[in-house]
Amino acid sequence: MHTKHYSRTIFTISIAAYLVLDHVGLTKAASEVSNYDFWPSNILGKRAMQLVRDHLSRRQERKKSRSSKQICYDMVGCFPIPRSSYSPLMKSPQSPDTVDTKFLVMTRQNRSDLILIKYGDRHVSMANSNFKPELPTKIIIHGFKGSGHDKVAKLLGNALLDLEDANVIFVDWEKGAAGPGYALAAANTQLIGRQLAILITDMVALNGDPARIHMIGFSLGAHVAGFAGKALKLLDIRVGRITGLDPASPLFRQMLSASLLSLSADDAAFVDVVHTDGARIWSEGFGLFNPIGDVDYFPNGGLDQPGCEQVRGSVIVSRFEGTMNSSVVCNHLRALQFFLESLKAVSDPDACQFTAFPCHTGWSMFQRGECFPTNCTDSNCVTMGFAASQSKLRGPLYLTTRDSSPFCGRQLKASVLLSPKTPKLRGYLQISLEDGDNTANFKLRTKHMDYISGGLLAEGLSVATYEKSVQKHLNIELSFQSLAYQTENEKYGLNSNIDVVVDKISIFDTEGNVWSNCTENSNLIHVDGTTIYAQTYSLSLFANC
Ligand SMILES: *[C@@H]1O[C@H](CO)[C@@H](O)[C@H](O)[C@H]1NC(C)=O
Ligand SMILES: *[C@@H]1O[C@H](CO)[C@@H](O)[C@H](O)[C@H]1NC(C)=O
Ligand SMILES: *[C@@H]1O[C@H](CO)[C@@H](O)[C@H](O)[C@H]1NC(C)=O
Ligand SMILES: *[C@@H]1O[C@H](CO)[C@@H](O)[C@H](O)[C@H]1NC(C)=O
Repeated sequence: MHTKHYSRTIFTISIAAYLVLDHVGLTKAASEVSNYDFWPSNILGKRAMQLVRDHLSRRQERKKSRSSKQICYDMVGCFPIPRSSYSPLMKSPQSPDTVDTKFLVMTRQNRSDLILIKYGDRHVSMANSNFKPELPTKIIIHGFKGSGHDKVAKLLGNALLDLEDANVIFVDWEKGAAGPGYALAAANTQLIGRQLAILITDMVALNGDPARIHMIGFSLGAHVAGFAGKALKLLDIRVGRITGLDPASPLFRQMLSASLLSLSADDAAFVDVVHTDGARIWSEGFGLFNPIGDVDYFPNGGLDQPGCEQVRGSVIVSRFEGTMNSSVVCNHLRALQFFLESLKAVSDPDACQFTAFPCHTGWSMFQRGECFPTNCTDSNCVTMGFAASQSKLRGPLYLTTRDSSPFCGRQLKASVLLSPKTPKLRGYLQISLEDGDNTANFKLRTKHMDYISGGLLAEGLSVATYEKSVQKHLNIELSFQSLAYQTENEKYGLNSNIDVVVDKISIFDTEGNVWSNCTENSNLIHVDGTTIYAQTYSLSLFANC
């Protein structure tokens, strides 16, 4: 029965591939092929294969004369060997035998006993496993120094199966991801991507629907998914979704800029990317930002995650060997933790959702509260994580999270209206909000950044523990940290009397709730022996002032 299916599907696909070749013209097809040199011979008709081979060999002749070298392996085809002058980090992938990639299937039928399937065995092992072509398929791909047996990969697989009946496939490329250097692991993503692509053609040959395939790649695994998507595109197969979990860490920046390793929006019907340790140039807005997916999420700005030790200095190194320890990868791992947490929220309407928002002016303005929606609708708020596929928004999206698990929280914006009586002062306002056993802190900024003065609004964001029902009152402390010295005040003509006078304080969430205190002419009190001025307030829900 399977054999019958097989030959019919193969026939259809090879005809389709042939027609595509014919349609786009062989020149274009051959030039595309030469980028990846990838045509799984088990699926393409002999005639088409021969045409491609002819064109490839002619093309390669020409290429050789231009001194571009290649390394070729069975089934997966050829990869360029970078010239040493090109980039010291660039390498070509290791052989399939060395990397020894394993694909392991987990289903609801048996979650503890993973079944090994092979690519390119005419889907015999796949047909004999628990794999069910009629179910959606989730493919989990680990990153640098990872393994298909990582605890977090198993957690992810189990959470996906809790949510829906599916085939979960772990791509285990442990030997290829081990290094020793990062560059070798990065180069190997090209190989693993093609191996995965062949495996997916086997699924399609068994009548699996590519639109129901979701690849979830962490770190370098995101680029494996990207390469699989690119290779499949040449066969006119488009997978439904790729989720890239922090594909572009600063650790990886040099590699990415030096090559075409980057996952891109074209690699699947829907590509969502979560940046938690991004390269600075990508996330600071004002036109420098270049999103790589259909939607790119930047939790906490996408650079440094709250709760992670700041070790940025140690990653500004040209070689990554030996720097991958837990403090360095904390920011990086957050993307995975967010995704796991989002899975638990999918089926629970009372659970916290990682709501994210667009902000055309970038993160620094978002942080000042400029783009914060006080009443979310489908047109200005979307969810990060598993539910992102429902997103109607495109482009970069921002959100704030808590600093420890649960990371999802009630996102808040504080707004303080300064009385006209407040002189121009150097320093900044801060709010500490009582949040159970914790405190949520807001750093407030006016449009003059380091200065406050009468009539201005000072605004900032924070995030509190999420509970479905909201409190009637919030207790806060508003404080002013003065940064001015007496002499400086005189020099710049600033007032040396630190009279911080407040007219109104409000805290907004994204669900239309607002807590306020409108005690006019309220003074902050000097805290003895410090340069701090503070006052506590109670804010009331819908205070109507
Ligand atoms: C899963 O597989 C293991 C090992 O083959 C077996 O011992 C166990 O009974 C299986 N569990 C189920 C639920 O089939
Ligand atoms: C992590 O790496 C940094 C920089 O190389 C080093 O100072 C630190 O001790 C390392 N931490 C652990 C836990 O290995
Ligand atoms: C939020 O917006 C919706 C739709 O515009 C509106 O119906 C609802 O009353 C608003 N809620 C609040 C609390 O403002
Ligand atoms: C504002 O805060 C003051 C000081 O805590 C409190 O006495 C007052 O009741 C608050 N007003 C509202 C509307 O919550």
